[in-house]
Amino acid sequence: MSDVYLNGSFMPAAEARISPMDRGFLFGDGIYEVIPSYQGRLVGFTPHIDRMQRGLAEIGIDLSWSHAQWHAMITELLSRNGNADLGVYLHVSRGTDTKRGHAFPSGVSPTVFAFTFAINPPPSGLPGSAKPIQVASADDLRWKRCHIKSTALLGNVLHHQQGVAAGYQETILFNEQAELTEGSSCNAFIVKNGVISTPPLDHQILPGITRLLLLQILRAHSTLTIEERVIHKAEVLSADEVWLTSSSKELMPVVAIDGVPVGTGQVGPYWHQAQKLFAEHKFA
Ligand code: PDD
Repeated sequence: MSDVYLNGSFMPAAEARISPMDRGFLFGDGIYEVIPSYQGRLVGFTPHIDRMQRGLAEIGIDLSWSHAQWHAMITELLSRNGNADLGVYLHVSRGTDTKRGHAFPSGVSPTVFAFTFAINPPPSGLPGSAKPIQVASADDLRWKRCHIKSTALLGNVLHHQQGVAAGYQETILFNEQAELTEGSSCNAFIVKNGVISTPPLDHQILPGITRLLLLQILRAHSTLTIEERVIHKAEVLSADEVWLTSSSKELMPVVAIDGVPVGTGQVGPYWHQAQKLFAEHKFA
């Protein structure tokens, strides 16, 4: 049985209780984070907590935990769960009120909840280590605040399910101008003629920490050309390689979109190079 953290205490998951009047339950009124940890070593702890603090501030949830407080809680939670390869899920909702009303209530303390879940060891980037995926494409029908890591994920869930229902593992999304935004649960990159490109940060995408670390690592440890720019759908469909990034999966090579092969339909050489560099430098 795994242990979770809830509002100041650690306990077996089956004993955790949150009121159905919690605004996280009623409105999806909260912020979450997922931080990967391999044998007790966290990847990107500081930028993950920075992003959560930005999200909390942006939606007006007042929770003044320092990075050190988060670190202490997470370290204890990981240790109680065996320090295996784990994703750490953090969730802060606006809290539990006595009634349901859209306006922010006063005198309510945030609910802080955390649990861990098993994640696969990431690919090394060496030949044979890739787990290629196939994806669907769809018009991005989510809201205009996708930079906030909100627990209100129905838009993402519906897009993800679109891909799953069609027999794929993800769905990549395009805005009304047919520009690439991201995946339903990950950021997106393309490679063309050796140039790595990813959409710029704005309200249309989550500022992914894997995206951030990958850009930093590629800029510091390779001579590859990296571009953060608007990418049109036609470029995605004619790319040599497409990758998706997320904390629990690192770099996922996409070998087909809507059943049409990406490039040669095989995992490409730039994915191997980038995933290998990510594996080498992600803890730095
Ligand atoms: N998903 N974009 C979206 C919409 C996401 O949900 C995620 C992460 C990312 C990648 O962000 P990061 O590299 O910081 O994980 C991009 C998480 C893992 C989830 O919802 O489980």
